[in-house]
Amino acid sequence: MEVKRLTGIFGAEVHLGDVRRLDAEIFGELRRLVCEHEVVVIPGQSLGVSDQVELSRRFGPAGPVPFIEPSPDHPEVIKVLKEATDGDAFNFGGAWHSDFSFQPEPPSFTLLFAIDIPPFGGDTLWSSMSAAWRYLSDDRRAELLAITAVHTARDAYSRKMQPLHSGLSGMNIVCDDTANDTELHPLVTTHPETGKKCLFFNRAYVRDLLGVDSDRVASLLEWLHSYTTDARFTFRHRWSPGDLVIWDNRSTQHYALNDYAGFRRELHRTTVAGERPSA
Ligand code: SIN
Repeated sequence: MEVKRLTGIFGAEVHLGDVRRLDAEIFGELRRLVCEHEVVVIPGQSLGVSDQVELSRRFGPAGPVPFIEPSPDHPEVIKVLKEATDGDAFNFGGAWHSDFSFQPEPPSFTLLFAIDIPPFGGDTLWSSMSAAWRYLSDDRRAELLAITAVHTARDAYSRKMQPLHSGLSGMNIVCDDTANDTELHPLVTTHPETGKKCLFFNRAYVRDLLGVDSDRVASLLEWLHSYTTDARFTFRHRWSPGDLVIWDNRSTQHYALNDYAGFRRELHRTTVAGERPSA
């Protein structure tokens, strides 16, 4: 297995042959690499929908997928698809987020496989939330350790958002009132597999903070967003068809760029069930 680090902070490109044929030992090593490097790029794969489901299930059972109708070929897969003719204003995943962090037990891993990639643009960025924690001052750490984050899908999937989602003709996203539910998670979490401390924050779904004076909430949310997405904590991937990227939602957030007007982009996504984040 060849492992090449992609930045000084996180991310690795891994070459291990055909991911459909990994023995238990190599698969165990791959899982360890994803936890260690947080985002792993595996180029040159050929994965049908059921191959992806099979690989994803080796990481763990599929997590629940709210609001997004799965692929007709398989209930565990969502097609992240923007047609060339879809409007330019909106794309799926085009805001910093960690997948479904508003769930009581958000997904541990996401697997995203590239099918059709525009000739330019459509890159994805990730940010390391363990690095964001590591670089904090002691005073800031003490302050953030006392805070609980309020996660909600309200500003992504409540009914007012339906017209935006309906603009993606190749996806069937159905907004409903459950988007207004809230879930509380510690702002500072301990990764259950690596033991690393992480800032479990993303601006898309963290809409309030408990444990801080109410007049400071808005400015702290804004600070957390700009600090955690600072360029030094990020890694950007230029996709090619056949790339499989696996990331750890417990230690990263990510953002899909929307800069490929007039071109089609299709990737297949599976998410692996996670556990309740703990402090
Ligand atoms: C997502 O947010 O899961 C999709 C990311 C992407 O399309 O690059």
